[in-house]
Amino acid sequence: MRLSLRFVLPLLLVLAAIAYAVSPMVDQLTLRWFVRDLDSRSALIANAIQEPLLEQLAAGRKAKTGDFFNRISQDERLFAVGYCATPDTPMLASRSLPKQITCAELARWTGPGEHLLASEQGPLHVAVHPMTSAAPADAAAVPGQLVLVHDMSFITRRSEETKRYLVYVFMALGAAVSLITVIVAQLSWRGWMAGVRALLRGEGLLRQPEINPPPSLPGFKPIARDLQRLISELESENRARDESQLTWSAETLRTILHGELRGEDVIVVSNREPYIHQRRGERIEVQRPASGLVTALEPIMRACSGTWIAHGSGSADHEVVDKNDRVAVPPENPAYHIRRVWLTPEEEAGYYYGFANEGLWPLCHIAHVRPIFRSGDWAQYIAVNRKFAQAVVSEAKTKNPIVLVQDYHFALLPKMIHEELPEATIISFWHIPWPNPESFAICPWREEILAGMLGSSIMGFHTQSHCNNFVDTVDRFLEARVDRESFNVSFGGKRTSVRRYPISIAWPPDPELLQKCVPECRRHIRELNDLPPEHKLGIGVDRLDYTKGILERFRAIERLLELKPDWIGHFTFVQIAAPTRSGIDEYQHHEAQVRTLATRINARFERRGPAPIILKIEQHAPPLVYEHFRAADLCFVSSLHDGMNLVAKEFVAARDDERGVLILSEFTGAARELPEALIVNPYDADQCAAALHLALSMPDMEQRDRMLLMRGLVAEFNVFRWAGRMLLDAATQRRHSRLTDMPGTSTL
Ligand code: G6P
Repeated sequence: MRLSLRFVLPLLLVLAAIAYAVSPMVDQLTLRWFVRDLDSRSALIANAIQEPLLEQLAAGRKAKTGDFFNRISQDERLFAVGYCATPDTPMLASRSLPKQITCAELARWTGPGEHLLASEQGPLHVAVHPMTSAAPADAAAVPGQLVLVHDMSFITRRSEETKRYLVYVFMALGAAVSLITVIVAQLSWRGWMAGVRALLRGEGLLRQPEINPPPSLPGFKPIARDLQRLISELESENRARDESQLTWSAETLRTILHGELRGEDVIVVSNREPYIHQRRGERIEVQRPASGLVTALEPIMRACSGTWIAHGSGSADHEVVDKNDRVAVPPENPAYHIRRVWLTPEEEAGYYYGFANEGLWPLCHIAHVRPIFRSGDWAQYIAVNRKFAQAVVSEAKTKNPIVLVQDYHFALLPKMIHEELPEATIISFWHIPWPNPESFAICPWREEILAGMLGSSIMGFHTQSHCNNFVDTVDRFLEARVDRESFNVSFGGKRTSVRRYPISIAWPPDPELLQKCVPECRRHIRELNDLPPEHKLGIGVDRLDYTKGILERFRAIERLLELKPDWIGHFTFVQIAAPTRSGIDEYQHHEAQVRTLATRINARFERRGPAPIILKIEQHAPPLVYEHFRAADLCFVSSLHDGMNLVAKEFVAARDDERGVLILSEFTGAARELPEALIVNPYDADQCAAALHLALSMPDMEQRDRMLLMRGLVAEFNVFRWAGRMLLDAATQRRHSRLTDMPGTSTL
């Protein structure tokens, strides 16, 4: 309202000034028109009365002439009529003739014509017409002039009236213009402000989808685009600045969810569940699986709540769920829900053991184990992906949930979810490496796999080289548009951003895991393994998987003892190997190989003290694993190929004493982030042996320097940043798609 007044008042003032300036011009103009009217009127009257006047004059009836003039001047405007024979004679006139008009006075005027005269009666128009005779012969005999005086006061009256009308017209005009302007301004302002507010809230300009469908205001669209672009730039600048200042934590992540994503529900889908309920006789035991994926995602879910959909694989899983197959976890302090999906033995055999772990796993790891592809497994893989898609749809509370699809078990799931929930934001993360196009080409269903993954809004990998390989593979096998500058792929009308998100672990680590001090851990673990107090200890913690390079690790230890026999009897390597996928021949074979090799090496060096290798093929709970990390002098990660490898980061997190040496395979994603580790090629036994020797003899100060740098990296690039980055990118995408979905708005 204040705004309207501020606008309307000046407008009215301007209009009043215009009216004031225009009125004298109008006065003059109308005066000229009226004078011209009176001129022609006088000429007309003069012509009309000339003949009867001549007759009366000729007849010498002067008295009658006076009456005649009096009658004529009864006309409303004709004020007086007079006749002058000569300048010297008195004027024969009607009674109303003003005294100052005399024949002598007329002679002084410039001659016949019109004159304006001011008199006591007001302004007068005096027209002097010479008399003419109808008979040419008498022309000389017709003397005199006819004087017609018109009252001009009506002109003044009319001029006043005109001025009044003019003011009314301008006032009405002003009011109308003001009213229209105010209405238009109010509407535009409201729409504009609503649009800007919506935009700043992260919705599209002029669009509040759930409330009102937007009116299409094409005029605003270019402005909307510019504004959106500006906001995006500011956002990314702010983000870059914020991220360098941010300490990412569970709290930061919660803030992002509530701020950027307005508290939207997050649904995670993975094959492996974070808590497995196992029946042990009368008791139900809760097991934590050995899985990097679970290690990373569990703290995220604790922070975000939401729902985690996973395969219910525990023997007591059925017993603890509610009627919707849900169970609240963590058991001691529930923060989110697991929604369990049940699989038949056939489904598990085909989808999990078969296609995922005998096909895709070796295909992506290139660890010299041949992938096996069976069409029966493929059929189960499709069926199980569909089953999980239905679970996602049934768990979604809105039509546009945020779904985090995890790993190679669900390559088809993004497309299936997209078909059911086209507005969902699907972030897929591939936790294992992505091979080059030539290697991937051997998969008989390569196109279907790629098309399934491209149902994602964002496709994440640990490293840039995995992103490059993926984009190359898509380019090779699909009719897709690949933008290598922005790393966006458009396929089937859908755009997928391919991004690098290096996964990590929670920071700071759970205090319970660090409860026991390092000297106590050293003492306890040595005792546990019958080792002398100052015995040098190495540690390896892996699933018993052929990609982890456990055989290569053992060969390196053997080589160390060959090259540096002083370590025999003084150094022992404890290998914790969690049994995994034991239904698969290759894994059974691998386990046998590992056991045999450890036995052979131990047999070779055991006689001179404690065994060089202690192999523990069993699942260890996280506190015991951390105790081993804290007790060890070195940790050896020798994966032949690994997306990231979180064991390396866990070892670093465990060492708050800033001691201990990490030996790390160059074929892990972690090697790119932790160059202060001793980086090795696990296939090179001599090099690995040298690294082992270096680690065992490294001075404390050097250990400290290296460990400090690695701890700084893991603290900064922790798992909350990993998830936070993905969710921020998802939020940005949602904002962009709201804007670009506006009719007539092109892609930004
Ligand atoms: C790797 C995979 C995970 C998987 C984990 C354990 O880290 O990327 O998806 O959960 O291995 O394997 P498992 O087959 O026991 O789930």
